[in-house]
Amino acid sequence: MKPIGVFDSGVGGLTVVAALRQCLPKESILYLGDTARLPYGTKSASTVQRYTERNLKFLSSRGVKAVVVACNTASALALPHLRFDHPTWGVVEPGAEWAAKMTRNDRIGVIATESTVRSDAYGEALRRWRPEAAVFSHACPLFVPLVEEGWLDGEVVEAVARRYLEPLRRAEVDTVVLGCTHYPMLKPILQRVLGDEVHLADSAQIVAQKVSQGLAAADLLEPTAEGLVQTCLTDAGESFARLARQILGDLPSEPEWVDV
Ligand code: DGL
Repeated sequence: MKPIGVFDSGVGGLTVVAALRQCLPKESILYLGDTARLPYGTKSASTVQRYTERNLKFLSSRGVKAVVVACNTASALALPHLRFDHPTWGVVEPGAEWAAKMTRNDRIGVIATESTVRSDAYGEALRRWRPEAAVFSHACPLFVPLVEEGWLDGEVVEAVARRYLEPLRRAEVDTVVLGCTHYPMLKPILQRVLGDEVHLADSAQIVAQKVSQGLAAADLLEPTAEGLVQTCLTDAGESFARLARQILGDLPSEPEWVDV
């Protein structure tokens, strides 16, 4: 049984694994977290491309049948420049498509890492789907370390969220793309700060639906009795077990330490 390969710069991409498990509970998943090189979100395009290429090679060497680039930064900066032999999904295009379909006032916000915002990958994708839309992109660099620390709520997180999201509130966006693996973990507080009427486009859920449809169409689904999640990490991070439990609700098997 060939697994679906999923990679991220760290553990945050498990939000995509959680969404995949909901859509495809019987598929096996091989997850690679490049924890040794996290964060990607502050690095240059050429560095992120080099890391992404190595990660894809690693997953290929482990016999995956398809790959999901769960990392928004890698999807934005590297994926358009790389070729891979297996069906491959990034998270930018599906997130942008969903947001473009949801907006009613053509004012869309994007929150992401600094590198993703600088690349304008979401802006370009959104304008392809909805040329008339005004896109307001904002980097929220403190959200990643807050989530890594397990700070998902409380006054500090709320103060940070209020400050970061104020320009989007002022811009009167009705849809906001959560353009980073970690942000779905902050959904309740982001929703509270932005207001219930604002749609949050969580690319994790949307990409999982695309993968499920794509694998079915290519006749690549191989349900097993119990979909297993095997995890490979490039560094022994202490936060792995806590974050994995928070995101997946349980712990995948012991991670394997790999050098890519
Ligand atoms: N995985 C990254 C992303 O989705 C966030 C963490 C990082 O900066 O590496 O953009």
